[in-house]
Amino acid sequence: MDRLFNFSAGPGTLPASVLEEARDEMLAYKDAGASVIEISHRSPQYTELVEQARGHFRDLLGIGDEWKILFLQGGASLQFYQTALNFLGEGQVGDYVVTGAWAKKAMAEAKLVGETNEAASSAETGHDHTPDPSTWQVSDRSAYVHITSNNTIFGTQFANDPDPGVPMICDASSDFLSRPINMDRYGLIYAGAQKNIGPAGVAVVLVRQDFLDRIPEGLPTLLDYRTHAAKLFHTPPVFAVYMVEKVLRWIKSGGDLAAMKRRNDEKAALLYDRIDATDFYRGHARTNSRSNMNVTFNLPTEELEAAFVAEAKTHGLVALKGHRSVGGIRASIYNACPREGVEALASFMADFEASNG
Ligand SMILES: Cc1ncc(COP(=O)(O)O)c(C=O)c1O
Repeated sequence: MDRLFNFSAGPGTLPASVLEEARDEMLAYKDAGASVIEISHRSPQYTELVEQARGHFRDLLGIGDEWKILFLQGGASLQFYQTALNFLGEGQVGDYVVTGAWAKKAMAEAKLVGETNEAASSAETGHDHTPDPSTWQVSDRSAYVHITSNNTIFGTQFANDPDPGVPMICDASSDFLSRPINMDRYGLIYAGAQKNIGPAGVAVVLVRQDFLDRIPEGLPTLLDYRTHAAKLFHTPPVFAVYMVEKVLRWIKSGGDLAAMKRRNDEKAALLYDRIDATDFYRGHARTNSRSNMNVTFNLPTEELEAAFVAEAKTHGLVALKGHRSVGGIRASIYNACPREGVEALASFMADFEASNG
């Protein structure tokens, strides 16, 4: 069967060329005489590829050795707790900008560790925007401000890196490496790989050395970031890291992150232009908070939404149903979602409206 245009929110579409390369290497990786998932994580082959992956992150983000790049397990969700455990010190406050379900979960986990403050929230208006940083009520005992750069479920995204005057911790799971990042604003950035940068199974954590220096003694070994920054402590998720290296190489082959952003903005505009053309499609996000990764919208009735999803499938456009908590339609158009797929969806939207509007 041919590949369909897959708008899954995650795990999401990966570049076909990356999948082909992995397929071709499946039985024997380079000179290893075995696949990459059958050799030691301390072998020269794996050591080389993990260092290459780190090099790609450094090249793409323009960062040096002051940033440690870790490949951890437990998904982005473990990072909700682990970030607080490491950085929410006694007498300090963890500030959270609650822009959706994931941010709320992050704050709930931090509460298990210490004091938290909801610095801003978009809950009252159904998480249809990212609150303006000038309105945030950041604690004067703030250890960090935690943000979710892109809200996968609601389809909102910060237009720029906010500057709350305190280092930020960012859950970048659903827009990592989709655009340039002002790294100076952050102490730690984490992302589950399974949307923009690889398969499920690895959470990539970038942490700055001065943040590592704040970590107290006595944390459980595996939950202390310094354990992983110091050395390869235990078996990493080798296959996921192997795929991440390939995806990053693919990103670099298309230019820098500014070029990636241009392509993503153009793809998103194809859908938002369609949404804005008439009242038939109603975008969930306010225009100044729109995500160029997850485009969320409603049709006039739930019946029409169900028909839209079903009919789209017959055109080879799949995984368009909105998250169960919000309903409607969600088109996830991550880095690897090809422009032709987005064009096909925009054209389907026009046809569906013509027949049902
Ligand atoms: C923004 C965001 N954060 C966290 C998560 C949870 O990631 P994981 O399943 O890797 O724990 C998701 C998953 O969709 C997400 O979109």
